[in-house]
Amino acid sequence: MRHWLIAAAAAAVIAAPLSAHADPIVMKFSHVVAEKTPKGQAALKFKELAEKYLPGKVKIEVYPNSQLFGDAKEMEALALGDVQFIATSMSKFGKYTKKLEVFDLPFMFKDMDAVERFENSKTGQELLHSMENRNYLGLAYWHNGLAQMSANKPLLMPSDAKGLKFRIQQSDIIAASYETLGANVQKLAFSEVYQALQVGTVNAQENTWSNIFSKKFYEVQSDFTESNDRVIDYMVLVNAKWWKGLPDDIRAGLSKAMKEATAENNVIAGKLNDEARAKIEASGKVKIHKLTAEQHKAWVDSMRPVWEKFKGQIGEDIVKAAVASNGPPTN
Ligand code: LMR
Repeated sequence: MRHWLIAAAAAAVIAAPLSAHADPIVMKFSHVVAEKTPKGQAALKFKELAEKYLPGKVKIEVYPNSQLFGDAKEMEALALGDVQFIATSMSKFGKYTKKLEVFDLPFMFKDMDAVERFENSKTGQELLHSMENRNYLGLAYWHNGLAQMSANKPLLMPSDAKGLKFRIQQSDIIAASYETLGANVQKLAFSEVYQALQVGTVNAQENTWSNIFSKKFYEVQSDFTESNDRVIDYMVLVNAKWWKGLPDDIRAGLSKAMKEATAENNVIAGKLNDEARAKIEASGKVKIHKLTAEQHKAWVDSMRPVWEKFKGQIGEDIVKAAVASNGPPTN
């Protein structure tokens, strides 16, 4: 009897598809924002689709809120293979390439449609490869939205920013944008912003409505200005050698999942930010100031010198392509 059982078990193992016995490849996706944000939702959609298209072959583990790696560590972790996917704000690549600083130029993009046109342009697609010489390969752009300023007083004219201390991302262009107004800046990791605003280390910031709401910045700032002064978008990055070394079927399935998750993200990002703004306003805890055309022009004119200072290191052709993405001048 025993011989029959052993023979049956052996036959079952041989007959079972190999994939059923090869453990799935575990891939980690680390990011720094909350789940209920454009990036948080896109990472979960990518996980759902990757595991759908590659059943039993891959397992995507998503780690939001800087749980696994925060701002300071995620690029190094990707280089070392401690994580397989990150989706970093393009304001944080200054030490790897200057080309992506085009996204930080103040008031460069009039709306997210312009951002999307630029990202999908020949120049935008080439920028996905701008760090490949450092073994970082961009797979996609994911939208968040345009940044909104805040402080504990109304920011209506550029002079209102003088003397304030803005938390900013790791960006020399964002620093120059505020320093040109006589403000001070402090580069802080995203995970440190709430506490820094709470204790007064900084007293002003800029971010998208979804980040402001999900991290409750509206609890520690009294006045928000709908400035739309800069885009905060992401580049989904992989370790280039790791990506190119994947089996063809795995890479193809992941690419299909990434393409579809990207398309969905770029449709829902605007909606998530609009919902976040509405929830902030409904909280009754803050004032949201809309700028008049004159006030908006004053902010644009005051920060425009930053373009002249940085367009050389970014590449004038890249800056021109970004400007063109806004469409013909309206004035
Ligand atoms: C920030 O640091 O403010 C943002 O880049 C966070 C994010 O990834 O949206």
